[in-house]
Amino acid sequence: MSLLSWIDERYPLTKVWNEHLAQYYAPKNFNFWYFFGSLAMLVLVNQILTGVWLAMSYKPDAGLAFGSIEYIMRDVNWGWLLRYMHSTGASAFFIVIYLHMFRGLIYGSYRQPRELLWIIGVIIYVLMMATAFMGYLLPWGQMSFWGAQVIVNLFSAVPYIGPDLGVWIRGDYVISDATLNRFFALHFLLPFLLAAVVFIHIVALHKVGSNNPDGIEIKKGPKGNRWSDTAPADGIPFHPYYSVKDIVGVVGFLILFALVIFFAPEMGGFFLEHPNFEPANPMKTPEHIAPVWYFTPFYAILRAVPSVAGSAFPGVVAMGASIAMFFLLPWLDRSPVKSIRYKGIIFKVWIGIFVVCFVVLGYLGVQPSTPGKTLLAQICTVLYFAFFLLMPIYSKMDKTKPVPERVTK
Ligand code: HEM
Repeated sequence: MSLLSWIDERYPLTKVWNEHLAQYYAPKNFNFWYFFGSLAMLVLVNQILTGVWLAMSYKPDAGLAFGSIEYIMRDVNWGWLLRYMHSTGASAFFIVIYLHMFRGLIYGSYRQPRELLWIIGVIIYVLMMATAFMGYLLPWGQMSFWGAQVIVNLFSAVPYIGPDLGVWIRGDYVISDATLNRFFALHFLLPFLLAAVVFIHIVALHKVGSNNPDGIEIKKGPKGNRWSDTAPADGIPFHPYYSVKDIVGVVGFLILFALVIFFAPEMGGFFLEHPNFEPANPMKTPEHIAPVWYFTPFYAILRAVPSVAGSAFPGVVAMGASIAMFFLLPWLDRSPVKSIRYKGIIFKVWIGIFVVCFVVLGYLGVQPSTPGKTLLAQICTVLYFAFFLLMPIYSKMDKTKPVPERVTK
């Protein structure tokens, strides 16, 4: 008896391999936009591995944390590489995920029957934000400290329960050693939770099957291809076709990733902010506090909304709502077609407006506010919400093109 059949009698190894890889039929017309799911998995693994190794030399103690990072950078063998792979990896993760989400947006991958797959994705995104936020406190630099101060204070702006909520999150009345310790514990835990939710994401994907650039359901089309009589005619086995194709994406990604790690790990202050090279000092507020680039669109929305009676709560609500919009998306789009290829000019203009506003808000979020910039942020905030909230109307008005019966190239 071969080892494989010995295992198969005790564990469904070949069955799982076939059902999810060798006999899993994916649409044959995937383009480069379909690289980002596998790349996101690669970056998640990178973050977990480099993170665990960093944790072997890091000290989650307000008196020692900053020094332990310097120790990793200078004295630990290859410590600088581990740290840059992890800090650059955080930004890479968000770049990959934003592209992955954008793909979903243009091809209507959030539409029926993939609503739950999309919602699980948005949960992943929120978990990623929480993980990145807590990780940023760990180097205990000026921006770590003051960034956490600003964000935790937002929770304190919630009416009635806010002040208690702030103390509960910090474990203290101020950001302190207790906060650092718990953020470290959670920052270590959350990536494993993320990995579990990614597993659920893939289970959901394999239940409904992938969408594709034409936005048509291959499962509803004709059956039978050269591998199987029952498989969708427009499907090809994931392995070896897409397992090999994804390697092209991995190679391209690793080249860019290495270029940043070796030549621009701070990315001019965007990936590692300059004030974070100074140890945290509760007595000295940095001149300008800004979160890392991947949070800045939402931070700009927060600042765009005026305080009411001295409370920043309306801004906090707007920021929360701007993220919550993604959960609603599957029910906002009423277009008869899924993919941008067959949508009309109105959708194309709106998605263009959305992307421009997201980028402009991201830029404004790193800038000190001035009256002119605040006005621009307010305009972009209104358009950001309009993209989502007017979608039930404009997606119906839009003049769509006829959708082909079978996938095209
Ligand atoms: C750690 C983060 C994530 C990982 C590892 C991940 C992984 C994957 C993988 C491997 C696929 C199949 C390959 C592909 O279509 O690119 C996929 C598909 C998909 N993901 Fe994710 N994902 C993540 C986050 C998200 C997020 C944040 C969203 C949305 C908010 C999302 C929404 C989707 C959708 C809608 C599909 C199906 C796309 C289609 O068939 O056109 N994912 N994901």
